[in-house]
Amino acid sequence: MTKRILDNVKDYYGKVIESSRDLKTSACTADKHALTKSVKEALSLINEEVNSRYFGCGITLPPALEGCSVLDLGCGAGRDCFCLSKLVGPNGRVTGIDMTPELLDIAKKNVDCHTKTFGYSKPNVEFKSGFIEQLDKAGIERESYDVIVSNCVINLSPDKEAVLSQAFTALKEGGELYFSDMYTDSKLSAEIKNDSILWGEGIAGALHWQDLLEMAKRIGFTTPILYKASPICLIDKHIQTRVGNAKFISATYRLFKLPKHNVPKMLVTYCGNIEGHEHNFKFDIYNNFKTNQRHLVSKELSLIFSTTRYAKYFRIEKYEHTLEKTNPFSIAYEE
Ligand SMILES: C[S@@+](CC[C@H](N)C(=O)[O-])C[C@H]1O[C@@H](n2cnc3c(N)ncnc32)[C@H](O)[C@@H]1O
Repeated sequence: MTKRILDNVKDYYGKVIESSRDLKTSACTADKHALTKSVKEALSLINEEVNSRYFGCGITLPPALEGCSVLDLGCGAGRDCFCLSKLVGPNGRVTGIDMTPELLDIAKKNVDCHTKTFGYSKPNVEFKSGFIEQLDKAGIERESYDVIVSNCVINLSPDKEAVLSQAFTALKEGGELYFSDMYTDSKLSAEIKNDSILWGEGIAGALHWQDLLEMAKRIGFTTPILYKASPICLIDKHIQTRVGNAKFISATYRLFKLPKHNVPKMLVTYCGNIEGHEHNFKFDIYNNFKTNQRHLVSKELSLIFSTTRYAKYFRIEKYEHTLEKTNPFSIAYEE
């Protein structure tokens, strides 16, 4: 690991910037209408001290979390962890890991008050100090989480492949890595990469979006499934000049750790039973499943909807068998 980069990032978030107002970039992700009632409620219950130290660039609160174990990579002062603590409920558990002591202190100090606000008899959230490139050294056990989230952190790491491969190891089979991060469309110069402010802002360390696809494949994840992409606004004129024509986005991807078997393309029907998604379920930018309507999906999506935590929300049918049984009259009268 490059110690200089890590020390610089630790200083930036622990000592240099005090609130999100000090950031020189902003992700234009505010899409409050897309949030479910329970996510809005969770967000509304987070206290001011934690909210004021939120530095994320997306919403990393995926659906269907009740009872899940969730790990947040680079949790900072814990805003997402506390929301997740509410969303997983008293039978779930949340772990946040971060390397910056000033932010972890705020997170730890606020555990009891959020536990009380949520009406839980004991905390279901814990915070650990450590590097996301070395989850094993921080005491994160192999195959111990259903879901891993991360909000604007992996772009700050000097070794993104180590982060993704440690996340892969920490996920259970069928688990999901759901994360928002910054990406670029350009090859960034060494001069940009060596600028400590640009690195701290996530700009200098942003992956070229195509590199994520290669990296995920090498590690054993599914193809990265894009959920949302928004432009990053470079607020500071000096930063705009430094980066020239390079563009930056914040993107939220789903990556799954799936069992190694092959399934054919299947017909899947969303049952409408995910809380807050009763009429339809937007899974990614291409698939917005209407309740009780059949969709033919790829082999990879077929495996996702039959082996992950989403399986209990879908009916799955083999395409060929269904074709043989399909009565054209029922189709004609359905429409
Ligand atoms: C942009 S902030 C995001 C914090 C938090 N996710 C949020 O949304 O408020 C980046 C966080 O990642 C942490 N971080 C960056 N690189 C890290 C690393 N290699 N290991 C552990 N934490 C890291 C920083 O300490 C900081 O808290």
